[in-house]
Amino acid sequence: MRISVIGTGYLGAVHAACMADIGHEVLGVDTDAQKIAALQDGHAPFFEPGLEEILVRALGSGKLRFSTSLQEAAGFADAHFICVGTPQLPGAAGADLSHIEAVVDGLAPYLTRDCLVIGKSTVPVGTAARLAARVAELAPAGAAAGLAWNPEFLREGFAVEDTLRPDRIVVGITSQTADVTLRAIYASVLELGTPYLTTDLPTAELVKVAANAFLATKISFINAVSNVCDAAGADVMTLADALGHDTRIGRRFLSAGLGFGGGCLSKDIRAFMARADELGVGDSLQFLREVDQINTGRRALAVEAARDLAGGSFAGRNVAVLGAAFKPDTDDVRDSPALDVARTIRAQGAVVRVHDPRATYNARRACPDLDYVEEAVKACEAADVVLHLTEWREYREIDPAELASVVRTPCLLDGRNVLPLGEWQAAGWTVRSLGGAIR
Ligand code: UDX
Repeated sequence: MRISVIGTGYLGAVHAACMADIGHEVLGVDTDAQKIAALQDGHAPFFEPGLEEILVRALGSGKLRFSTSLQEAAGFADAHFICVGTPQLPGAAGADLSHIEAVVDGLAPYLTRDCLVIGKSTVPVGTAARLAARVAELAPAGAAAGLAWNPEFLREGFAVEDTLRPDRIVVGITSQTADVTLRAIYASVLELGTPYLTTDLPTAELVKVAANAFLATKISFINAVSNVCDAAGADVMTLADALGHDTRIGRRFLSAGLGFGGGCLSKDIRAFMARADELGVGDSLQFLREVDQINTGRRALAVEAARDLAGGSFAGRNVAVLGAAFKPDTDDVRDSPALDVARTIRAQGAVVRVHDPRATYNARRACPDLDYVEEAVKACEAADVVLHLTEWREYREIDPAELASVVRTPCLLDGRNVLPLGEWQAAGWTVRSLGGAIR
């Protein structure tokens, strides 16, 4: 099928490359000409394992090309995926829908024949119905230009895998034709036995925000329990392992530590609460305010623990920060807990030296005041405190005895509860964790 993918941010770039990889003819569209030129040359605008390979393969096969023209997209494709961002509004909890509205207003007037517009962006419930009416009003094809909602559940770092082999496909539809089109688009994925759920537009929109709200709640739950573990001298990681064996609970998303960040969880729970307020059911999601507060509280807790380790004040202290990305295997620093902690400690007077295997470029742009270094060991030279804030694999391979010889004071805070703290202690380090006992 001929498909256009509009928006080449994280979601769009991955979706365009994957759709071409499973055999469709794809046109990727973005207003950013520089990004389009880079993609056309086979360069992904961010680090994502496996993406560049399928991008280059799809470009080489002639199945994928890029453009800045919505008019061209309308002429070319039978299905148009909208993958633009819906960030948090500045100074408010709700989502900024200006990009998605601009795409619909820009595309619809060119839709002169049967086609399906498919929303993938995360939106407040009710948006899809409003956009469907807008498409029908603006498109010369009228009702022959349909709209469906197909939320995306991909995780950064696993985005290609999650797109080609998803847990489930959810589609919000209002016609049989839309169902036929979507089944044809995902035919090869459905052949793998992937569950395919059809529903109405509002349910499809809500599945996505409810999934992210649940994941955020699970993380904040274990982080709240970790405070009790700290106070009682218990080990939250063993506790989480034990909980996880109960298949009703499951171990995933029960890792206590610095909490969640990134481009989705925080902004999605805030937008969910804002939309529930508008619908007059804000009280039902009151608990998400706690989830959010527990999460941001982890960052303050890490700063406090680091200050204790530094002797009660950061003035004149050198602090090494291992990790800047919001999680490993990505160069994304949006709402990164690690960078947030680094920034706060710098503001409290420390010299902060940051290392990250992939995210330094983005981190420097977001936080130019911090010092960035190319090697973890360089960040730790003459450090009074070392903070492990993003759990990249390479940090687990650090030899604590070797690192002890370069720091000024061997003090470590493991903000992610994955380092073998017993070994670090044996190598002379004073260690702290956020809820994990010394293992
Ligand atoms: C998330 C959802 O998982 C995905 O389905 C949705 O489409 C987009 O949002 P992503 O932002 O890529 O994906 O990150 P995810 O892997 O979910 O991690 C989110 C944050 O939670 C990270 O900062 C991570 O470090 C943190 N986390 C995760 C924990 O603190 N503890 C855990 O146990 C798991």
